[in-house]
Amino acid sequence: MIKEIHEQPKVIRNTFKGYISALEPIVSLGVTREIDFNVLILACGTSYHAALVGRHLIQQLARIPVQVELASEFNYTEAVLSKTWAIVITQSGETADSIKALRKAKASGCRTLVITNVVGSSATRLADEVLYITAGPEISVAATKSFVAQLTMLYLLAFGWASTDARSLGNMIAELRQLPNRVHEILDREEAIAEQARHLAKYESQFLVARGVNFPIALEGALKIKEIAYVHAEGYAAGELKHGPFALLTPNTPVIAIAARDSTYDTLLANIKEIKARESPVIAIAGDADTEIDKYVDSVVRVPSVDPLFSPVVNAIALQLLAYYIARERACPIDTPRNLAKSVTVE
Ligand code: AGP
Repeated sequence: MIKEIHEQPKVIRNTFKGYISALEPIVSLGVTREIDFNVLILACGTSYHAALVGRHLIQQLARIPVQVELASEFNYTEAVLSKTWAIVITQSGETADSIKALRKAKASGCRTLVITNVVGSSATRLADEVLYITAGPEISVAATKSFVAQLTMLYLLAFGWASTDARSLGNMIAELRQLPNRVHEILDREEAIAEQARHLAKYESQFLVARGVNFPIALEGALKIKEIAYVHAEGYAAGELKHGPFALLTPNTPVIAIAARDSTYDTLLANIKEIKARESPVIAIAGDADTEIDKYVDSVVRVPSVDPLFSPVVNAIALQLLAYYIARERACPIDTPRNLAKSVTVE
């Protein structure tokens, strides 16, 4: 897992190279934006979390309505699917629930696109179009580099379909090109993150909260902590804690708050104050430029400051490292966690 975490700068670069023009602000994936089409994204586990980020990106940049469904549940819904691009995201291309959802979307008349890491996998043989994330073989059960490569592909798709002006698109493409360097900066902070992890490793129950485009990253961080460190960790929309989970907050329930300097920031600070009033330790994940956050939390995991649109990538990698070092501290078998398989080929 740690090897795959460290491969991520290269993986991001490999995923975007070839799709971005060197001369103009143009991203061409060969997947056309159809007039009046909606988008439906189907996936499981970590790939589902990438899909949730993708919804924000496509809706914000391309102004296309996007629905996201767990593939395992989509198979039991009466979906209305006229004029729809159904996008199935699956690292392995073999996940049974995702394959079944892909068949259902296709039979319902959707145009289908698979985003996968595995050439020739079952999903690629069923879909109308395929985009490969080129993350290289991912051996560790916990998905890390494939997640970041999926996010990269979703940025490209949103840019390719974007209805923004050429100048803003050019700026976003320039940010994407810089992202591998930002990721190197997080990886350089591994020891500081490991130190925070050693402290967190003693708690048996943790919450991760965020708002907006980082909410799926709270879900993803919690999944990583659960699967490799065997700690009960729950990802929650920051505004939802007060609708029930507040009952669980005590000085023994740390809360990791992912803070992005976007329109969610002030409300997130208000949520952090509410959590502190319940005496839970709060650890923020925040950008270097955010000096405000220190006044509200017990400690801060620092990540490089990036445009909030790209903050899911840097925050996800900080959480991968945090989960990894919590698991190390707890002496867990990180690459082969109990009860889990890399590819889930049963429904
Ligand atoms: C994540 O760490 C897990 N390995 C799991 O949630 C995984 O993402 C899920 O099983 C989906 O797999 P896929 O992307 O190969 O379809």
